[in-house]
Amino acid sequence: MPVTKELFRHVLGHFATGVAVVTTRQPSGKPWGFTVNSFTSVSLEPPLVLYCVDSSGESARAIAGSDYFGVNFLGDAQEHISRRFASRSGDRFEGVVYTETSNGSPVLEGCLGYIECKKVALHTHGDHDVIIGEVLEAHAGEGNPLLFFRGAYGRLKPPHSNGH
Ligand SMILES: Cc1cc2nc3c(=O)[nH]c(=O)nc-3n(C[C@H](O)[C@H](O)[C@H](O)COP(=O)(O)O)c2cc1C
Repeated sequence: MPVTKELFRHVLGHFATGVAVVTTRQPSGKPWGFTVNSFTSVSLEPPLVLYCVDSSGESARAIAGSDYFGVNFLGDAQEHISRRFASRSGDRFEGVVYTETSNGSPVLEGCLGYIECKKVALHTHGDHDVIIGEVLEAHAGEGNPLLFFRGAYGRLKPPHSNGH
């Protein structure tokens, strides 16, 4: 069976992930951010991570124009932040509380973890850019993750509940 776009989406949706917001500062000085679930670690030594971004969008332009980016791991109470940073309407940062690093990457408040990276490579494959970053700073917080599975948000179940 040929792997159509629909089949690819459907099957890949069965791989559960966390959800993160990649943040950066545009050359104009304005903060930019977008939701990703393509984030993963690449190497321990040196510490490298990657994510993929649609080459045709505004986010790819923002990332191409900046040497640094942050990755904010979302907690289970931050579904609204995920939706906001995936939306094409309105100012994504409006009403969002954040600080910023000395390199200008926004750090969103209340996340489960945060890393700041220096962009070390950008490889275009198909319709996405693979961005590789070297991790300069890393902080972990408390709480449970927001999950994404089969096109929907999910949360960890308490131990022993097993849905019964
Ligand atoms: C849970 C979730 C995961 C996403 N993961 C990615 C991703 O890994 N890469 C990507 O380019 N877009 C991803 N998106 C979509 C982008 O967040 C969204 O299309 C993008 O912010 C649109 O803005 P742009 O046109 O300015 O790039 C994801 C959206 C959601 C809701």
